[in-house]
Amino acid sequence: MMRTLTTVEALRSQVSAWRSAGEGIAFVPTMGNLHEGHLQLVRHALEQAPHVVASVFVNPTQFGPGEDFDSYPRTLDSDQQKLAAEGVQLLFAPAVDTLYPGGTQATTQIEVPEVSHGLCDDFRPGHFAGVATVVARLFNLVQPDVAVFGEKDYQQLTVIRRMVRDLCWPIRVEGVPTVREADGLAMSSRNQYLGTAERRLAPQLYRTLCEVAEQVRAGQIPYRELESGAMQRLADAGFRPEYVAIRHAETLQPVERGELNARVLGAAQLGAARLIDNLGL
Ligand code: PAF
Repeated sequence: MMRTLTTVEALRSQVSAWRSAGEGIAFVPTMGNLHEGHLQLVRHALEQAPHVVASVFVNPTQFGPGEDFDSYPRTLDSDQQKLAAEGVQLLFAPAVDTLYPGGTQATTQIEVPEVSHGLCDDFRPGHFAGVATVVARLFNLVQPDVAVFGEKDYQQLTVIRRMVRDLCWPIRVEGVPTVREADGLAMSSRNQYLGTAERRLAPQLYRTLCEVAEQVRAGQIPYRELESGAMQRLADAGFRPEYVAIRHAETLQPVERGELNARVLGAAQLGAARLIDNLGL
């Protein structure tokens, strides 16, 4: 039986019962509207600890002005059914004032330096402070031993790993590979903003990143030209590309030929959707 809790008190009481019994907790934070990608995170979490907590919270502080906070799909009933069917024991689904009792503006914020900058931050300033802030709050409430995130939001995963390291939290952060549709498009709640023609075009982002990965493997240089060539191909196909970047997998700094621990990351607008994707080299 899965329980849905909405208050800090109820969550703390369950967490402290598990903690005093010495039982481990794995945590999957989400913004809901769950798809197969989220369910893979849940399945991974279920293998890590005897108790799995999921959260559904559309976090206002990670949306910029003019972004889709109001229209972001909220589907709590079907999310609850999916999580219960997977065997999750506890869902935490708080209201905004529960997580932000002082309001969303005048509040303590977590700023993770370096890896929060560049890439998505150039187009969504403040986004990663919003993510780090809410994830820090959730970690303090849930007190997980393990927290599970998707590799699709690779910069987010990197920011969270760095925050956990810097703040000395005893939490193991696990990244789970991106789940894709049959045509390669990375699963995302925002894919539903795509019209029919846009949906057909959308996997071109992944294909373009795969081409860049192939070029890198074939020894082509310079990397900055591979990136700008990929941006041009995306623009020619009808995207509004934001970036294509070959970066160090841990520092997210630009790399040159010879760096083996690297990833290619990309983001592009397509119609009303902003798509992001990445893959390891
Ligand atoms: O990846 C997400 O769904 C969100 O950014 C997260 C980690 C749940 C924080 O709101």
